[in-house]
Amino acid sequence: MGTVAIVPAAGSGNRLGSRRPKQFLQVAGVSLVVLTLRVLSGVREVGGIVVAAPPEAVEATRRLLERYRIPRIVGVVPGGRERQESVWLALQAVPASASLVVIHDAVRPFITRSLVASVIRAARRHGAATCGLPVAETIKQVRDGQVEGTVERERLWLVQTPQAFQRSLLCEAHEKARSDGFTGTDDAVLVERLGVTVRMVPGLPENFKITTPGDLARARTFAARGRG
Ligand code: CTP
Ligand code: MG
Repeated sequence: MGTVAIVPAAGSGNRLGSRRPKQFLQVAGVSLVVLTLRVLSGVREVGGIVVAAPPEAVEATRRLLERYRIPRIVGVVPGGRERQESVWLALQAVPASASLVVIHDAVRPFITRSLVASVIRAARRHGAATCGLPVAETIKQVRDGQVEGTVERERLWLVQTPQAFQRSLLCEAHEKARSDGFTGTDDAVLVERLGVTVRMVPGLPENFKITTPGDLARARTFAARGRG
């Protein structure tokens, strides 16, 4: 199957604070998870997609993806308590024939097919790749309202998804994290812990993660303007 995509969509969206998990909220009349999957399923290199959904919403998610005729879904699995656990559970449903896995958050709907393809290409060449943006603002370390220091910005990047990995490398990284009791906020850090170098590919400003109510408002404005 070549490359399989994993879409973690099993979170509860605490920071956004809506009753329904944010991945099921609508932007431009379509739920975020569907918007994201429409793009991913249109990437030529992506042969199959596994979605991790909240355990109580697995059936509803399956029906939603059927209703919108999202092609190449090879599994909708119950996710776990942490994002890392959801990715791990989805990884167990990746067909054995896949040699590369690309992971993309359900709540970054403004991804482009070409960015997904470049991250996949970088992972094919280097084994592991993420995308991100160089930090544009000054960063300070603060404790109890007091500035402790200023972090050198030059080499800092904000990390986005997609991230892509050789399947065997990703499995090994998750297995090691599990046995060490380590929880990370992305998948790349698990691979970094193996001592493997992860390639950084320039991301896109519009590929922001919908985390807060302000991000949802921004997404609605952005979608209404026709992705511009
Ligand atoms: N995610 C997941 N399983 C979890 C937690 C998160 O699949 N147990 C997914 C989310 O659905 C989302 C992506 O990981 O698509 C990024 O996570 P985040 O923005 O943190 O989403 P939530 O965890 O839902 O939000 P919050 O942290 O505010 O509760
Ligand atoms: Mg979260």
